[in-house]
Parts: sequence; structure tokens; C-alpha cells
Amino acid sequence: MKALIPAAGLGTRFLPVTKSVPKEMLPVVDRPQIQYIVEEGLASGADEVVIINSREKKIIEDYFTENAHLVSHLRAKGKDAYADEVQHVGELPVSYVYQDEPLGLGHAVHCAAEKTGDEPFFVLLGDVIVPGNDMLVRMKEVSDAHNGASVIAVLPVPEDQVSRFGIIAGEAVSDDVWKVESLVEKPAVEDAPSNLAVFGRYLLSPRVMDLLAEVKPGAGGEIQLTDAMDAVLKEEEMYALIIDGDEGFDLGTVDSWLETNNILYQRRFGK
Ligand code: G1P
Repeated sequence: MKALIPAAGLGTRFLPVTKSVPKEMLPVVDRPQIQYIVEEGLASGADEVVIINSREKKIIEDYFTENAHLVSHLRAKGKDAYADEVQHVGELPVSYVYQDEPLGLGHAVHCAAEKTGDEPFFVLLGDVIVPGNDMLVRMKEVSDAHNGASVIAVLPVPEDQVSRFGIIAGEAVSDDVWKVESLVEKPAVEDAPSNLAVFGRYLLSPRVMDLLAEVKPGAGGEIQLTDAMDAVLKEEEMYALIIDGDEGFDLGTVDSWLETNNILYQRRFGK
């Protein structure tokens, strides 16, 4: 099973730094944020992570490439802990496809169609990190309990924020699982069918990938993943796992990125 990480965006909210440093390479404590996402995908049972990259952001690929010279230099200096870290990053099973036009999240995901083939796949959006690495695992359990159905993570959000997210309609089947009936991308408050927002972690059936080739541009004139997921509901079941806000840390704005750095630094070093 593959884990897809869309990473071709411009990182506009972090300009000017993202003029030459991809947003995905900004640090969280001592490693680039995309490393957390890659490791979460692998910890969740993916055998390979596919980064949907832009050709302008090869520095991401440099990071995940082996550097035997640096490793041996560090070992010669007795800096084995650093050498181990560098070696580990170079050995992670990461591959790349390219999104050459900014046509939306759905288009980005579809760029990896040849990688996923006829298997279910994970999608992990890079704007949030899940240090527990257990969310996709729980989603897989829900999927397994429902004949391999697609499962998405959703977070209850205040009503005035629904227009920033994909929003689901459906009904509860247990305390923390809903059966999804429809999805709408970035609805106006008055049109939102619930306050359960698509959070950025998806376990999707291969049929969603097929349908991405057919969906028309939606909200914002972009090809939306949400629209392909809504379309698949005519043919397949889908479930939503309701998560807690404190399971994920946002990296989408300068403020939230700084706050996430502070929290994870304290957790790691107890300072
Ligand atoms: C994307 C998805 C949206 C989801 C959100 C989560 O939107 O299209 O459904 O709720 O991520 O962060 P974006 O934030 O890329 O506009």
C-alpha cells in the first residue's frame, strides 16, 4: 500500500522564505516537516511513500537521498548519533511523481495513479503532523471492519470555520465513527451539512483514483479530492473517524508552525 504526500504547492503563506526553500523543508525542531509525514505513512503500514512533487523542489529529493560521504565523515569524527540519523533519512522508501500544473488537490493525487494501481492508498496532507502516528492505523481498523471501505479523518470545527474545509454529511454508527452520506468542499456556513471537517488523512479505495480522472473543477476552480470522494459514494460505502484536535499539530500558518515547534520542542527535550 502506498502513502501519497502532495507537496507541489507554492507555500505562499510562508513567502519570502519559500521563494527558495520549499515549505515542506521548513524545520519542526530539528528535521523538515515532511520527514514527520513520511515517517507517519511508513509507521501506518505503507510500503512506500510517494511524494507528489514539483520539478522546482528537487531539494526535497536531495534530502531523502543517501549521502555516504557525510555519513562516513560523521562516523570518523565519532558522531554516530548524527550519522545514524542521516543514514536513516537516506534509506527511507520514498519515490516521486510530478504535478506540473497547480490544478488542485484532486489533480495532485491523480498524478500518482500509476503508483497506486488497483490498491487502496493513504493520502497525508503536509499541513498537519500527527506525532502519535496512530491515526491512519485506527482508520485502517475501521476500514477492515467495513469490508475495506474508504475512511477519512474528520475534526469537529466551530461553525464559522466550516467554509475552510471539506465537510461531511452522514450519521453516527458509534461514538467516534460516522457513515458518510455526502461531502462538500468549502461550503458556506448556511450550506454546511455538519461541522465535521475533513482533516487531511485519508484511506481511499482505488475507485476514488479512477473517479479523479473524471471530476470537473469545483470549489476555487480546482479539481477537488472531496468531489471524487463524494462521487464514489454512489458506488461504495465510506466512513469517517472523528478525531480530537490535540491529535494533530497545524503547520499551515507562520503562527501555527511556530506554536507547533514550541510544543514539540518541549515534548522532546522537556524544556
Ligand atoms: C484541503 C481539502 C479539504 C480539507 C483540508 C484539510 O483543503 O481540500 O477538504 O478539509 O485540506 O486541511 P486546503 O486546505 O488544501 O484548501
